[in-house]
Amino acid sequence: MADRYLSFTGTGPGRFLTRRLGLPQPAPLKRWSAERPAQAGDRLLLTAGKSDLELAAAEPGLGLTASSERPDAVLLDATGVRDIETLAEVHAALHPVVRSVAASGRIVVLGAPLDPADHHQAAVQQALEGFTRSLGKEIGRGRTVNLVRLTDARAAESTLRFLLSPKSAYVSGQVIEVGAREAGDTREAEALTDPDRPLANHTALVTGAARGIGEAVAETLARDGARVVVLDVPQAEQDARRVADRLGGTALTLDITAPDAGERIAAALPDGLDVLVHNAGITRDRRLVNMPAERWSSVLDVNLASVLRTTDALLASGAMRRGGRIVATASIAGLAGNAGQTNYGASKAGIVGLVRSLAPRALAEHGVTVNAVAPGFIETKMTAAVPLLIREAGRRMNSLAQGGLPVDVAETTAWLADPGSGAVNGQVVRVCGQSLLGA
Ligand code: NAI
Repeated sequence: MADRYLSFTGTGPGRFLTRRLGLPQPAPLKRWSAERPAQAGDRLLLTAGKSDLELAAAEPGLGLTASSERPDAVLLDATGVRDIETLAEVHAALHPVVRSVAASGRIVVLGAPLDPADHHQAAVQQALEGFTRSLGKEIGRGRTVNLVRLTDARAAESTLRFLLSPKSAYVSGQVIEVGAREAGDTREAEALTDPDRPLANHTALVTGAARGIGEAVAETLARDGARVVVLDVPQAEQDARRVADRLGGTALTLDITAPDAGERIAAALPDGLDVLVHNAGITRDRRLVNMPAERWSSVLDVNLASVLRTTDALLASGAMRRGGRIVATASIAGLAGNAGQTNYGASKAGIVGLVRSLAPRALAEHGVTVNAVAPGFIETKMTAAVPLLIREAGRRMNSLAQGGLPVDVAETTAWLADPGSGAVNGQVVRVCGQSLLGA
């Protein structure tokens, strides 16, 4: 659905009027396109404290520069911030350049894991979170600010590429932890493949992919080279086939709540599966006092129980190949709660619990990472059906003052699905423009 307010504020009179009235000023976001695959301008590298990362040398591919008049992106290495004095270097580094960062530009702060043996280091490293989230809220003009906690620059390459690129247009105010390079990182093996098609020779199955966010996910994974399997309910067979045909993939019509759904997926994919995206989801809103048991159980069954069952079945049978990626779909409603959505909020919070618990074991035992995306207000048929005033509030109550698009969730999923993202595990990444809900 078109965001008329965003179009209006893009005109001269619209900008003038909305500024005078103190109304939100959404900036049109610059997203990825084949014509504009990367930010065009400089990527400025700054440092606060004494860092051991040697980022420019470790990651020449990121194209970092030591000075720029008008950077498109700023990477601030604050991993060496250990005390109040070095924390002040964060201010000293960014204060002079923040104004010059281009519209739709990126600021990525790099932090270190909190040191349990040093409460001064822990305090100032945690301070980076408050700093990042606050800067994200004030920076405006479609610019985003995120924090990555890391120990190894190379393990974080796919994450930095994503966050510094137009693909992360609607991801802001996030804290992402990247571990050391582990068994799940198949990048070395993939080094010979085309960097524009990281998922070449990989099979990806997306549930609920006949339309909406799932369709965009399937499309983006196909762009990245994956053979996609478009799974949806039998009633959506025509749409599923249309999407699959367009993407050169295959359709699989199956109700994901079937008790043997995992076994049927495994049977349909005798060569195994590399990427599993749990996207299918439903809402059946009602306040708890008015909610019949059926509304509770149908939402819990589609959004959580089927995710648990199929994940277990595909891991246990070995259908998920080593180096595989599981990406589940939570929601900010699962983080913040939402009136009328006790069933939905419970199901989506359940996804967060599943990811946190399973991720380390799935990586250790199967070489598979498990992460989730948590979309905020995304422009889909689901949100178009929301009453006008609530819809407007949902759209504007985030730092970018607009709704996201299905492709924003898809790009985030594609980063998590990347063979180079093996050190990103157990993360729940919000794709919400830094929504105020649950922040
Ligand atoms: P949608 O309703 O447009 O698409 C969902 C798809 O899942 C449909 O094609 C549907 O047929 C399929 N599906 C439903 N039950 C199924 C089942 N039992 N087996 C197989 N397929 C099934 O929804 P949308 O907006 O694209 O959402 C996708 C995911 O993102 C859902 O998990 C949703 O909860 C989540 N989400 C969406 C947000 C939004 O703003 N649209 C915000 C937060 C989360």
